[in-house]
Amino acid sequence: MNHSHPRYERTLVIIKPDGVQRSLIGEVIRRYERSGLKLAAMKMLIPTPDMVETHYTLDPEWKLKTGEKNLKAYRDKGLKPPHDDPIAQSNMILAKLKKYMASGPVVAMVWQGAHAVAIVRKLTGGTEPLMSDVGTIRGDYVLDSYKMADDDLRAIRNIVHASGSVKEAEDEIGYWFKKDEILSYRLLVDQMLYDTDLENFIE
Ligand code: CDP
Ligand code: MG
Repeated sequence: MNHSHPRYERTLVIIKPDGVQRSLIGEVIRRYERSGLKLAAMKMLIPTPDMVETHYTLDPEWKLKTGEKNLKAYRDKGLKPPHDDPIAQSNMILAKLKKYMASGPVVAMVWQGAHAVAIVRKLTGGTEPLMSDVGTIRGDYVLDSYKMADDDLRAIRNIVHASGSVKEAEDEIGYWFKKDEILSYRLLVDQMLYDTDLENFIE
């Protein structure tokens, strides 16, 4: 089997504590599942604050990138951000994230399929629910904003975490799942999604 084919790409999704508390586990899974992606692993747990910090800092660039993205979102709206330094902004975000993500059960999942990382990000929507597209999980089910969350000294509650890149996905999957917890199997629908000949359908 050629495992470099795009159909083997994997990504990590975590249904965050607000997604669990708002009874959206089924809805979130439904949205990824019906796209053709395959569920390869799933577990429920209550993360510790340390696990949350490790998860978000697996990428050493995360603080800088997240801080810059956050400051830009403020400036694009003509608002003044709480900090001018992106790292200071991210340190504040991380402290709030640890409280939020460790506040209750989460559901961690591995989804597999062609372009899994990008497809899951598209279905999930942008980070700030105020700006996320209608039709996405974050656009349809939350009404949070950077400013409201920052002013109230809490994390943005946006239902799910989804890996931001293939590299991030590999690191995050390795952190949350042991190798033998991730299943490789064929789904009947795989033939319609990936077969090149589409033979054997007509009797
Ligand atoms: O989750 P995503 O990859 O879309 O965004 P991120 O920039 O990697 O930020 C990670 C998480 O930090 C977000 O999903 C939010 O829950 C949280 N965050 C926050 O609470 N407050 C901010 N001002 C920015 C991000
Ligand atoms: Mg991210």
